[in-house]
Amino acid sequence: MSHILSIDQGTTSTRAILFDRGMRVVAIAQQEFTQHYPQAGWVEHDPEEIWRTTVAVCRGALDKAGLSAADLAGIGITNQRETTVVWDRATGKAIHNAIVWQDRRTARLCETLRREGHEAQITARTGLLLDPYFSGTKVRWIFDNVPDARERAGRGELAFGTIDSFLIWRLTGGKVHATDATNAARTLLFDIHSGAWSEEICGLLDVPMSLLPEVRNCSADFGTTDPALLGGAVPILGVAGDQQAATIGQACFAPGMMKSTYGTGCFALLNTGETPVASKNRMLTTVAYQLDGKRTYALEGSIFVAGAAVQWLRDGLGIIDSAAQSGELAQQADPAQDVILVPAFTGLGAPYWNPDCRGAMFGLTRNSGPAEFARAALESVGFQTRDLLGAMQADWSGGAEVVLRVDGGMSASDWTMQRLSDLLGAPVDRPVMQETTALGAAWLAGMKAGVYPDMDGFAQTWALDRRFTPGMGAGEREARYARWQRAVQAAMAF
Ligand code: G3P
Repeated sequence: MSHILSIDQGTTSTRAILFDRGMRVVAIAQQEFTQHYPQAGWVEHDPEEIWRTTVAVCRGALDKAGLSAADLAGIGITNQRETTVVWDRATGKAIHNAIVWQDRRTARLCETLRREGHEAQITARTGLLLDPYFSGTKVRWIFDNVPDARERAGRGELAFGTIDSFLIWRLTGGKVHATDATNAARTLLFDIHSGAWSEEICGLLDVPMSLLPEVRNCSADFGTTDPALLGGAVPILGVAGDQQAATIGQACFAPGMMKSTYGTGCFALLNTGETPVASKNRMLTTVAYQLDGKRTYALEGSIFVAGAAVQWLRDGLGIIDSAAQSGELAQQADPAQDVILVPAFTGLGAPYWNPDCRGAMFGLTRNSGPAEFARAALESVGFQTRDLLGAMQADWSGGAEVVLRVDGGMSASDWTMQRLSDLLGAPVDRPVMQETTALGAAWLAGMKAGVYPDMDGFAQTWALDRRFTPGMGAGEREARYARWQRAVQAAMAF
């Protein structure tokens, strides 16, 4: 009973990672699942497929390691955040596909609420902005569009949850309807100051409170799994949204520490301690983690396209065969050309929050080709991170220079991380442990189970793989950044 199983239910795949007593990875199982695009700007997942892949990868990881449920001290869950599921409490079946965080269908509703003057009130309570990204308007869309949903909710027949909550419900055989404070903080319905659902905002969005899960600490008792699933009952002891789990996995426990995860999108979180910092620069204020009833807050910058730009090079343009080739190709780009990509494929997130903006390329010449496209795609990640860092530094006067801890698929590319450091003019630290998201959830569960160290002990296990330091002169850096800013303005004006 000394291993921890971490479930990482992400946007494009579901993974289960088994950690041993020493927090080392002993087995990983992963399954991709279908992305549904029913209309332009809409993105859905089938909750049944999410569930099937979850059970399959949990069993798969145990099989690979030759372990059974009896070897597990607990389960940690981390998940794509904001993605919205409403299900029938009697059958556990969703009444609509999950509406994914990337889905833009509620852009008009957000616009209407903004015009009616509700944004300041929503931001004051939730720390978020009126953008289709968050769950609240997605829940409202389901109620406005699924026949009888509102009546059924009125009779208490339905439940809402982000993916963590849906998985907890399914794993416990419908016994527990709960979430943690980090996932709750992404719904647009949660008062991050009081740590409770906001009656006021639920009323404003017309979301019945009977739907909502109970909010618990990140390290807490979330029930035990139905023994039929894994061959024995296992306690679920840790839950956090994936970006918060990565913040924990990167041991960003002190105010001023910051991590940035480069997956499909890029999410940078700056720990601001016990005080929620209200952003003047359109960053989000969010819960980094809640332990023993005490919330630690973060400023967050969310970018929707990072690794997705590399996927576009591979799948859309066909100019690389694998993501790993992008750095090599970018290195061959003509230094005299200034091709800039604004990768607003699904609108722009922080700090622009423009759901209608679309992607654009600038500076093309007859000589521009695959290498310049690859460099532009990778540099767009650096420029967007600089947007976030600049906004956060303006919002938070907490002290020392920021050092960025990076993780996620793209952080494996030395070229991209070096260019990131160049464009930021700041050091970038890549840890040895790359499974930071899964590790964060595992630590939450393992600490609760008593098999993993406390926060200080855990922080001491963080180890540096490589530090990237800026090699670009300040003049060039500022000139390039100014060009990026002009490109973004032009794309938004288009
Ligand atoms: O806010 C969305 C984020 O949680 C998704 O993360 O890693 O599944 O792309 P990821």
